[in-house]
Amino acid sequence: MRKKVIAGNWKMNKLTAEAVELAAAVKESLAQCADVEVILCPPFTALKGVGDVVAGSQIKLGAQNMHWEKEGAFTGEISPGMLKDLGCQYVILGHSERRQYFHETDMVVNRKAKAALSAGLIPIVCVGETLEQRETNQTEDVVTTQVTKSLAGLDESAFRRVVVAYEPVWAIGTGRTATPAQAQAVHALIRQVLAKVCNPGAAQAVRIQYGGSVKAANAKELFSQPDIDGGLIGGAALDAASFVDIVKAGV
Ligand code: PGA
Repeated sequence: MRKKVIAGNWKMNKLTAEAVELAAAVKESLAQCADVEVILCPPFTALKGVGDVVAGSQIKLGAQNMHWEKEGAFTGEISPGMLKDLGCQYVILGHSERRQYFHETDMVVNRKAKAALSAGLIPIVCVGETLEQRETNQTEDVVTTQVTKSLAGLDESAFRRVVVAYEPVWAIGTGRTATPAQAQAVHALIRQVLAKVCNPGAAQAVRIQYGGSVKAANAKELFSQPDIDGGLIGGAALDAASFVDIVKAGV
């Protein structure tokens, strides 16, 4: 049985005080919720503050990006070790906004995934097609390539720890969610691809989140699909009550 994993991706939102307040509200409401793994991913500047709030609770801390090198002359970058130092256990990699606005390629995502795993961080590797790609029947090819290249060359024990997030770009922040059937179809495809990249046993162990306009109202049906193991939540994670309701839908 794969444990459901639900992460809040706060993107470039919340000053430290606001982030601390949101984390505290989530923590208070989820004190009893041990059946789902919950991760908060604030911006870098709020990692310390949020980390202090969730320390000692079941809520885990994640970052939204990192560099693949351990240290060095990379002005403005953050290393895996720096994230560990702040208490991070997870890191989102290859989010479509990073791919689109910051030109991250599958090769870059692969380097970062390997660096995260060797530093003891669990990468949440994001994949997903654009609207144009979906409308021209390229979803399968695009997602297959992204998963294969982003996760190439991992040994099995590292591979099993990875979380994949399927986030159709057309569903992110648009209010337009993939239907549970549409999402399940791609999740099942991703699991087949994972089996080819590593092996079928490892593919069964990998958790695959759905992301893209998840709300309390649609979360339960999405999370009840056989290959959907939780969610990566953007907009709805910025409000404690709506995020908590989504987490409860995963129980
Ligand atoms: P959304 O974002 O929930 O606001 O659509 C999801 C994401 O980008 O991870």
